[in-house]
Amino acid sequence: MNILLLGSGGREHALSWKLAQSRLLSGAQDSFYAAPGNPGIAEHATCVDLDLSDHRAVAEFCDMRRIGLVVIGPEAPLVDGLADSLRGAGISVFGPGKAAAQLEGSKGFTKDLCERAGIPTAAYVRTASLEQAVAALDGFTPPYVLKADGLAAGKGVVIPETYDAAVAELEDMFGGRFGEAGAEVVIEEFMQGEEASFFALTDGATILSFGCAQDHKRVGEGDTGPNTGGMGAYSPAPVLNAVMRGEVLERIIAPTVRTLANEGTPYSGVLFAGLMLTAEGPKLIEYNCRFGDPECQVLMTRLESDLGELMLACADSKLGTCGPVRFSAQTALTVVLAAKGYPGAPEKGGAIDLSAVQLPDVKIFHAGTRRDAEGVLRADGGRVLNVTATGLAVTQAQAAAYRAVDAIVFPTGFCRRDIGAREIAREAALSE
Ligand code: AMP
Ligand code: GLY
Repeated sequence: MNILLLGSGGREHALSWKLAQSRLLSGAQDSFYAAPGNPGIAEHATCVDLDLSDHRAVAEFCDMRRIGLVVIGPEAPLVDGLADSLRGAGISVFGPGKAAAQLEGSKGFTKDLCERAGIPTAAYVRTASLEQAVAALDGFTPPYVLKADGLAAGKGVVIPETYDAAVAELEDMFGGRFGEAGAEVVIEEFMQGEEASFFALTDGATILSFGCAQDHKRVGEGDTGPNTGGMGAYSPAPVLNAVMRGEVLERIIAPTVRTLANEGTPYSGVLFAGLMLTAEGPKLIEYNCRFGDPECQVLMTRLESDLGELMLACADSKLGTCGPVRFSAQTALTVVLAAKGYPGAPEKGGAIDLSAVQLPDVKIFHAGTRRDAEGVLRADGGRVLNVTATGLAVTQAQAAAYRAVDAIVFPTGFCRRDIGAREIAREAALSE
């Protein structure tokens, strides 16, 4: 079968690496395309230039190349309804349609759904004006959790410590800092606990667990500094134990899938739940309608099942015919190498030399990279490389990942040196 993968990040490099191993692409005639792709993805797929906001152009490409499966990596085209347009043209698509993608596209939509379905999450109020929002603050205690309703590239959440700071933030948000995404603001109760990510595949009826991970969102060591898209991750995340995973499936994922199906907007694709592990059990922080980046990189490194077959089954509402998803028992850990300046203005164009990295159990996924006319690899974005290693547990996977990081020559890059540290402290305590 011919497959088209959409996206250009480290997440999509990991997806392309795994899809390239699928039986769906094992025939001599099978072709694998990616748009727009990146130099890492280009090792597995033919990269083509497509404007993802031009749905007709994407559908025409699929028709011309007889594409049997389209995999949509990032959230923006999903929230924009690309999956609906392609399905309307008779193409199998991995990823939810516009209505179900509102789970990520509108925080207020998700909070209302949680309320209807009795899903554990933080108490909240939706506000549509500065006056309404300031008045609503009285119903909460500091720190205040303020969220722009729409897509804001992971930057739409602010957590001011005082009432005055919250009012100033609200003035900023309603003043247009997040553009359209901030036309509505959700104010939430502050939840205390450790965060973890849980993934499930669903075709709207069947749900298959797809592993768990822990991300490191802040740019600085010790979880300091501004939020980023993610500076590193590992999987599995033992902090989300088997009992909690059962609870998440039963009390959060299943009622979400059921409610959306009952309301005529079934969810199809991967459902990524950001969780807070509170004293009262796991609660939903937010949903994403695609794989996490960099969580995807560690999940794909551990995945033993055929990714292409699972994605096609999801797309064709046949997930019930697939067995449980199989993962290696090993731990995978990824360290993000970012360009200096990230998450503000990253320095572009810095040269990267990977030639000294020849360690077993290490995979380097490309995010924001490009090759110049001489073939030199250069930084071309905020997050640039994801150095991914495996090991018996987080301690070993982390050591292998940093050995590889240290072999990379990238003078304009930086990384956090403490990815997995919290879990490593727990592993050390266990071995004492
Ligand atoms: P989100 O984009 O909704 O995942 O939020 C970004 C980050 O803000 C989360 O990863 C949490 O660290 C934090 N956060 C969001 N909502 C809450 C909440 N209700 N209580 C505490 N922290 C939160
Ligand atoms: N790493 C968090 C995300 O992809 O949203």
